[in-house]
Amino acid sequence: MKAPRLIGCDVRTMRNESLEILGNSEAIAVNQDKLGVQGKKVAGGGDGKVWCSPLRHGRVAVVMWNRGSSPASITAKWIDVGLQPSAVHETTSSVRERISAVVDTHACKMYMLTPNGTDVGYPTLDRRRSKAGRRASEPSRERARHDSSHGRSWNTWNHFYCNINKTVIRESADALVSTGLAKLGYRYVNIDDCWAEHDRDSKGYLVPRKSTFPSGIKALADYVHGKGLKLGIYSDAGSRTCSQTMPGSLGHEQKDAETFASWGIDYLKYDNCNNGDLKPMKRYPAMTRALMSTGRPIFLSLCEWGDMHPALWADKLGNSWRTTMDINDSWESMVSRADQNEVYAEHARPGGWNDPDMLEVGNGGMSNDEYIVHFSLWAASKAPLLIGCDVRNLSKETLAILGNEEVIAVNQDPLGVQAKKVRMEGDHEAPLLIGCDVRNLSKETLAILGNEEVISVNQDPLGVQAKKVRMEGDHEVWTAPLSGYRTVVVLLNRSPEFRIITAQWDDIGIPPKTVVEARDLWKGIDYLKYDNCNNGDLKPMKREEVREQSESQCAPPCLQDVPIDASSSIRIG
Ligand code: GLA
Repeated sequence: MKAPRLIGCDVRTMRNESLEILGNSEAIAVNQDKLGVQGKKVAGGGDGKVWCSPLRHGRVAVVMWNRGSSPASITAKWIDVGLQPSAVHETTSSVRERISAVVDTHACKMYMLTPNGTDVGYPTLDRRRSKAGRRASEPSRERARHDSSHGRSWNTWNHFYCNINKTVIRESADALVSTGLAKLGYRYVNIDDCWAEHDRDSKGYLVPRKSTFPSGIKALADYVHGKGLKLGIYSDAGSRTCSQTMPGSLGHEQKDAETFASWGIDYLKYDNCNNGDLKPMKRYPAMTRALMSTGRPIFLSLCEWGDMHPALWADKLGNSWRTTMDINDSWESMVSRADQNEVYAEHARPGGWNDPDMLEVGNGGMSNDEYIVHFSLWAASKAPLLIGCDVRNLSKETLAILGNEEVIAVNQDPLGVQAKKVRMEGDHEAPLLIGCDVRNLSKETLAILGNEEVISVNQDPLGVQAKKVRMEGDHEVWTAPLSGYRTVVVLLNRSPEFRIITAQWDDIGIPPKTVVEARDLWKGIDYLKYDNCNNGDLKPMKREEVREQSESQCAPPCLQDVPIDASSSIRIG
């Protein structure tokens, strides 16, 4: 349960058996697992209960306990504990799909399941979902969580739109390898819209467009696989794709899933155009089911644009889900996508991610500093990092952003907690102060100031002050806990002026009086606030100096950075 371990017996006269229980280091490790997910009852209507809790590295702790007054045979099925049906328990390799045991009365068995094999990934326990919700998504309960990299990719759409062909794809795969981006985890080469002929063939199969993909998609998959990469493709949960140039998969899910699997596809982006107003909760599970039935692990990226809040229902259907409409290569579009995505932060977790759309970094519409903001927000938000520029022609600056290993490590942190805004300040929050000449009021002004109904809201006897439910200040602090008791902090200046932005320890969940090391991930400098406890200045220091001084200095109440450039620079510590 991840409950605090508070021993309540007389430790001076403890029996050996009690010491063995309290000192069981493996059970303690389950309690202390960094994923920190509380165990939950997942099966057992009668006295035999199954509780389980996902742990780091795709492992699961399972407790089978008997509350009854006679021995009971208890079974934990893989689908109940969030493992793929095909996963094999490492220590009992003959066991598949379930583990059973006869459990004495008022006793339990506790197992750690370590999936054996590379394609298993994180289990999919839903901590919040009600029984009704579980039933609604029943077909997807076995959905593979085979990828823990968030599907880091390069995708054709943001740069090439429909102008794609076999050469672009092959050269981009080559470039991912030669630039080193592949080594940093960008492993999927994703073909977006416009890859197929206008119509299906006479047997109902999708056909790669002859003029642009003359040797077909299977040959391309072989080429990409040969480079150690994976191939992604695109379809639509509607009658035609968004470009209207090719058919969608609605009603053809099984055939298309089988086609994709037979070509060796590893990733499917599944769009939402031309859907005949059918509910996405009906259209998307059909593709999940079809992909599952092929037996090939295929990363499923739902591109539902946040229309029906997929963060609330798609976690059992796919590996990521778009929370926004399409991004474009501008500051306004980029920050608004980050904002819309942030609303759903609670719903992201390892194996199922909110997707604020693909990156525009390197496409030329924003300044380099703005692209740093873009990448920082996506990284801290644990968003899939989907490169959207021409990787064959990367500038030094673009490569430095997309290839910043420390920022990528924030994105890939095993805790998988999406950053939230914790502080917003700025001009938009100024109170409304009436400043007109009341001796010369116009009719319109008097109508506003004299609106009796509005005044009565102000005078309501309940006297409860309205709260902001959403803040839109210009200066923001975004933060998320990371593994190893670390925290990522993004100080974001959205205004057109230089600003000093302060993150209070209280905002970012660090106890007061804690001394921290802070590292600027874009400058690669370590800081400690050590010399001036009143104004919170940070001074660059070497790591050894930080250690020497941290004992003797007073405690910092906040992390406060040097002025941040207008709409641009950002610091992550
Ligand atoms: C939609 C999607 C985009 C892209 C295009 C292709 O607009 O949201 O990401 O795939 O379709 O037509």
